[in-house]
Amino acid sequence: MKAEKKRVAILISGGGSNMVTLAQDMLGDPMHPAAPVLVLSNIADAGGLAKARDLDIPTAVLDHKAYDTREDFDAALNDTLRHAAPDVICLAGFMRILTPVFVDAWEGRVLNIHPSLLPKYKGLNTHARAIEAGDNEAGCSVHRVTAGLDDGPLLGQASVPIQADDTPDSLAKRVLVQEHRLYPAVLRHFLTGERGLLRL
Ligand code: GRF
Repeated sequence: MKAEKKRVAILISGGGSNMVTLAQDMLGDPMHPAAPVLVLSNIADAGGLAKARDLDIPTAVLDHKAYDTREDFDAALNDTLRHAAPDVICLAGFMRILTPVFVDAWEGRVLNIHPSLLPKYKGLNTHARAIEAGDNEAGCSVHRVTAGLDDGPLLGQASVPIQADDTPDSLAKRVLVQEHRLYPAVLRHFLTGERGLLRL
């Protein structure tokens, strides 16, 4: 008997390049244990939405500005997601702080990618902060989402050396290449029940 594929929803706010690499990994391999069932954006003109449509993935927009509180937005997010019945939710450049309304509803099923070697540099401007600090390496992390911002158990990390002439932009470009390798690999790992740290 053919095993049912796990259902993956991907949440974005921008260009969606991580979403595309996740989706292409699932769609390009008939043996992949999961399929993308929804791409949801909180920004109506996020570039990633058109890319999702090109990949024939259902899309949804939920504008956070239409809600008075973070909790109201998260409740609406939960409703929309429940229709898609995801087994796993991948945050991929989803620029929202999530409340327990969302986090508790999907506990253990939400992954996030963050462009730093966590626990260093939670939050924004990670590359500028790594350069400023004189670090010799930067990178990206995938972790399980818990109540704290960019917190939660680490599932995978990839690092890149920081070069003497790096700017935040040049470093971001090289880290993004690693994000595109790391996230699909961690998702596969996670779907097999593996919870150890994957290092690429
Ligand atoms: C990535 O660097 C991600 O780690 C960060 O925002 C960027 C999103 O890029 N949180 P994209 O939308 O996946 O192209």
